[in-house]
Amino acid sequence: MDITVIGRGNIGGGLADLWERAGHRVTRLGRGGGDAGASEAVLLAVPGTAVAAALSSVTGLAGKMVLDATNLYGGARPPAGFSSNAEYVESVTGGSTAKAFNTNFASLFGQIADTRVRPSNLWCGDDETQGIVGQLSLDAGYDAVRLGDLSMAATQEGLAGTMFAIAQSGLGQFVYRMAAPEQL
Ligand SMILES: NC(=O)c1ccc[n+]([C@@H]2O[C@H](COP(=O)([O-])OP(=O)(O)OC[C@H]3O[C@@H](n4cnc5c(N)ncnc54)[C@H](OP(=O)(O)O)[C@@H]3O)[C@@H](O)[C@H]2O)c1
Repeated sequence: MDITVIGRGNIGGGLADLWERAGHRVTRLGRGGGDAGASEAVLLAVPGTAVAAALSSVTGLAGKMVLDATNLYGGARPPAGFSSNAEYVESVTGGSTAKAFNTNFASLFGQIADTRVRPSNLWCGDDETQGIVGQLSLDAGYDAVRLGDLSMAATQEGLAGTMFAIAQSGLGQFVYRMAAPEQL
């Protein structure tokens, strides 16, 4: 699959490495922008407050499927008029959108392949994104677990604070698995 990552840092660069290893072709864009016109899927992985700036620096996004991995911290809010960054993204591109990969620690990407069972990757979004979110989760070493449609994106963005609180309460950075009992 041809994938463009907007943001090539911990999350964007880390997932790009895993996806290339799985056989995908990945174009990595930073704050200089670029073109996403040839891609089948776009990952958005820039600071949560830089989403509007990042999207405006990239051409070829109209109608594209976007997986939004951004988080907002410290009281930062999504763009005015939107309850989540992901819903703002969808309003800009007009394409199917998912919130995905924002509740996983990038620092652990290198260890995912060695886990006894696949960790989960929470996501929510449009039905049309389900297949690609599932495939790209698997190709990064995760099982996708759906939280709902895109109206759940604000809830999912809010989980980032919960993840940090758990990590800072003794566990350190962690993976998680949500599964039916017979799958454990
Ligand atoms: N790190 C994690 O474990 C983690 C986990 C879940 C979610 N997230 C979320 O994922 C997003 C990225 O986090 P990260 O840790 O990967 O950050 P990072 O390592 O600092 O990388 C940020 C990337 O965003 C680009 N960028 C910054 N400002 C931009 C702008 N105005 N326009 C376009 N691109 C811009 C940077 O471009 P340059 O390459 O040109 O500098 C860089 O490639 C954040 O929203 C974060 O909350 C992070």
